[in-house]
Amino acid sequence: MCGIVGYVGPQPALEVVVNGLARLEYRGYDSAGVAVLGGGSLRTEKRAGKLANLRKALEERPISGDGAGIGHTRWATHGAPNDVNAHPHVDNDRRVAIVHNGIIENFAALRMELEEKGCKFLSETDTEVAAHLLSSEMAERGGDLPAAMRAVCKRLEGAFTLVATSVDDPGLVVAARRNSPLVVGRGEGENFLASDVAAFIAHTREAVELGQDQVVELRADSVAVTDYDGNPVEVNEYHVDWDASAAEKGGYDYFMLKEIVEQPRAVADTLLGRVTVDGQLTLDEMRLSPEDLRSVEKIVIIACGTSYHAGLIAKYAIEHWCRIPCEVEVASEFRYRDPILDQQTLVIAISQSGESMDTLMAVRYAREQRARVLAICNVNGSTIPRESDGVLYTHAGPEVGVAATKTFLTQLAACYLIGLYLAQVRGLKFGDEINTVIAQLATMPEQVERVLGTVEPVRELARSLADTDTVLFLGRHVGYPVAMEGALKLKELAYMHAEAFAAGELKHGPIALIEDGLPVVVVVPSPRGRSVLHDKIVSNIQEVRARGARTIVIAEEGDESVRPYSDVLIEIPAVPTLLQPIVSTIPMQVFACELALAKGNDVDQPRNLAKSVTVE
Ligand code: G6P
Repeated sequence: MCGIVGYVGPQPALEVVVNGLARLEYRGYDSAGVAVLGGGSLRTEKRAGKLANLRKALEERPISGDGAGIGHTRWATHGAPNDVNAHPHVDNDRRVAIVHNGIIENFAALRMELEEKGCKFLSETDTEVAAHLLSSEMAERGGDLPAAMRAVCKRLEGAFTLVATSVDDPGLVVAARRNSPLVVGRGEGENFLASDVAAFIAHTREAVELGQDQVVELRADSVAVTDYDGNPVEVNEYHVDWDASAAEKGGYDYFMLKEIVEQPRAVADTLLGRVTVDGQLTLDEMRLSPEDLRSVEKIVIIACGTSYHAGLIAKYAIEHWCRIPCEVEVASEFRYRDPILDQQTLVIAISQSGESMDTLMAVRYAREQRARVLAICNVNGSTIPRESDGVLYTHAGPEVGVAATKTFLTQLAACYLIGLYLAQVRGLKFGDEINTVIAQLATMPEQVERVLGTVEPVRELARSLADTDTVLFLGRHVGYPVAMEGALKLKELAYMHAEAFAAGELKHGPIALIEDGLPVVVVVPSPRGRSVLHDKIVSNIQEVRARGARTIVIAEEGDESVRPYSDVLIEIPAVPTLLQPIVSTIPMQVFACELALAKGNDVDQPRNLAKSVTVE
């Protein structure tokens, strides 16, 4: 949430920064702004709305610099998303410019203090206090920007990444982080700072992780990291294993369209290398020993949004395969209900970005209660896996579209792997049974590919429903969270009223919503696996149809029993019941995406949303 870029080096800073922001726009697009240093002065430009507005303003009134540059793309918290509240913010003498991601919780008290000293505030943001504070700390420290930044950080409460530059030292950018993301890109004679490696991947794949409460001084030829007291700290360098082309649209009009198509590869990459030659599941990077896992008595899964839906599905698989009680909870609620956790509790935190603040806070709480925490994450080196006891990375590659697609499928694959691994180390299933499921899992990329080859009728259907106000979704067993994910996709992308219900719960109230012509999407479980479930949902379809609903039924190929009750039948390959979400989710993604496009919406950057939500 909010994207930040900093650059020092020989290239034109403005260009590097604006291009970096373009790759971070998924983090927020309420406004965008830049500051560059040139001719001994600070040159800034900022505009409400998407980056295109800033680019247009820069074309009409070009600014150039010969020193460092910083930039920001905003997801508004304090103050409306207008030009004035856009970042960067500057002090009254225009000596420093600063951009910020996060929330400064004590900003009101600081603002009052600064106003009493004569500072004039232009915006309603919490960020502006940091600009004035930085300027006054610099004045007291002979213009030493890093020392001033350290002093400022000690006065701030809340979560923040701050990146600043000053006319007093045009070859320097200084940044600090506490609970918000920040990564350094190391180039040849140039260095970069950003919320995410995507911003500099076109220039370098060498990155440096920053820890909490650290300050970095970035010059063209050096990167120095200290704690808030100025003590040098060791940093961890790593090589980014994907390149710039992975974060480009590659001929598609939207990232989301590309990311849906990338799903077979993403699932295959997540499964890759997890099975030894003798058929044993091996999760090397997990960092939790088999002894740790054998002692687990309860599992609690915490996550937000789409990742939460992956967790709901994981519960069915884990309880079935491992017979360990498993709870699933929305991360933002978890720590406020005084959950019962101990050393025998395994908390699984699912987060694509590894930066969702709600999930991070839940992870910290769980660790304080001495539970062990295992992260499922897609972003290497991000905060949640760093702060967890273990991690299983999904290998979906960068996901730029705000609505999660390929990362959801890879989260499911990771959850299945963890469930099977737990069963293996606890000796709960016979080896050949585990191997059977692993073999079934290995065929999933192919099945996903098959589904993608048959979705054209789903697109047509979606276009025909562009004027609909409401769509309901029904499911049972693992099909229920799939229905929830289908409804979430439609809300996020098409801004429609979309709601999911457990099909059996319908008769207890929601059935009153059914009226003539109302589209109802039903996810049907396989008739082979659990016929009782299947038969029950067929009755549910008839119940809504009898009341006038237009039924859109997602069912396994060859399931003829649903055909008479389906106004539209979407067939998916026959796969084991527990694995069905990997295939049944895809028509939902395509449906929501196409319907949103038909309404003229930007599916990569839906209104009001951000991909990585780094505030609570
Ligand atoms: C935001 C995004 C959702 C995402 C959720 C959790 O709300 O808009 O698409 O599912 O965050 O994100 P995470 O990175 O923790 O999986």
